[in-house]
Amino acid sequence: MARSPLQRVEGMTAASLSLAAALSEVGADIDRRLDQFLAIPEDPRADLYRAMRHAAIGGGKRLRPLLVFATGRLFNVDRDAVGRAGAAIECIHVYSLIHDDLPAMDDDDMRRGKPTVHKAFDEATAILAGDSLHALAFEILADPNTHPDPFVRSELVLDLARAAGPAGMAGGQAMDLEAEKSTFDLPTVTRLQALKTGALIACSVEAGAILGKVPPEGRTGLRGYARDVGLAFQIADDILDVEGDEAAVGKKLGKDEGAGKETFLSLLGLDRAREQARMLVDQAIEHLHAFGPEADLLRDIARFTLERDR
Ligand code: IPE
Ligand code: IPE
Ligand code: MG
Ligand code: MG
Ligand code: MG
Repeated sequence: MARSPLQRVEGMTAASLSLAAALSEVGADIDRRLDQFLAIPEDPRADLYRAMRHAAIGGGKRLRPLLVFATGRLFNVDRDAVGRAGAAIECIHVYSLIHDDLPAMDDDDMRRGKPTVHKAFDEATAILAGDSLHALAFEILADPNTHPDPFVRSELVLDLARAAGPAGMAGGQAMDLEAEKSTFDLPTVTRLQALKTGALIACSVEAGAILGKVPPEGRTGLRGYARDVGLAFQIADDILDVEGDEAAVGKKLGKDEGAGKETFLSLLGLDRAREQARMLVDQAIEHLHAFGPEADLLRDIARFTLERDR
């Protein structure tokens, strides 16, 4: 059984307890929303919906929706708007995981402690489940139920499209495949990680600010925070790939070295990579200096990206 992220944060300070509460609240909220969005139809599409549910419901840390929630809270954003935007970004994330696990990419059998979608169903269904979650994300954001103001909705759509596409996650995935074949230097690996993982994490923080109608010039600190958290988060993923517990993480580990992939770890070694990640977490927290205790959840999330065991 995969351990809950909550077990990991037990015994932390009073301020961190709100992280445990938020993780559990956001997790339940996202499950409930996806359950509603993905009701299984009584027609030949039933397996497609089952595959989407298999990947999207009941697993994952829900870090990206949590970031929308924590940022939205700074600006008193409506809880339903925050939940819908978080669900949309999680749909893109889950689609990226389904495709990342395909035989043509990382060829993985386990994800979130369950068989990957192409194993539990088949490859064609996995491709279509990813495609469908990708489309559903934009459907959710463009829906007037997400926000009454069409300018807010179109900014959300624009930002997520950029974060998911060739200038974001998909571009980072392409660089990641190249990283198995080429020798990348540190700036190139940093850029790869910023696109592959950082873009969606940045988009999650940005969505909270967009919903809060914060003008772009007021988002500088949050953007710095998100950039550093995204990088620290991917370094932690790479560290877990080397020394994590497979049962806890819920996916096959030791893949990066096996594939001869250039990562922060292969370039810096374990100790310096960990040191770099710690520095990024501190720097992320410094970017929040203009905020008071209302940003404590974002500070706790920054620490959690590194302290996590899954
Ligand atoms: C895994 O993301 C893939 C990366 C982008 C590093 P997460 O570690 O957020 O995976 P889940 O959502 O908790 O399963
Ligand atoms: C995938 O990175 C990141 C995505 C954009 C899906 P990884 O290949 O390192 O993710 P894991 O380790 O399989 O979760
Ligand atoms: Mg991959
Ligand atoms: Mg992978
Ligand atoms: Mg990985």
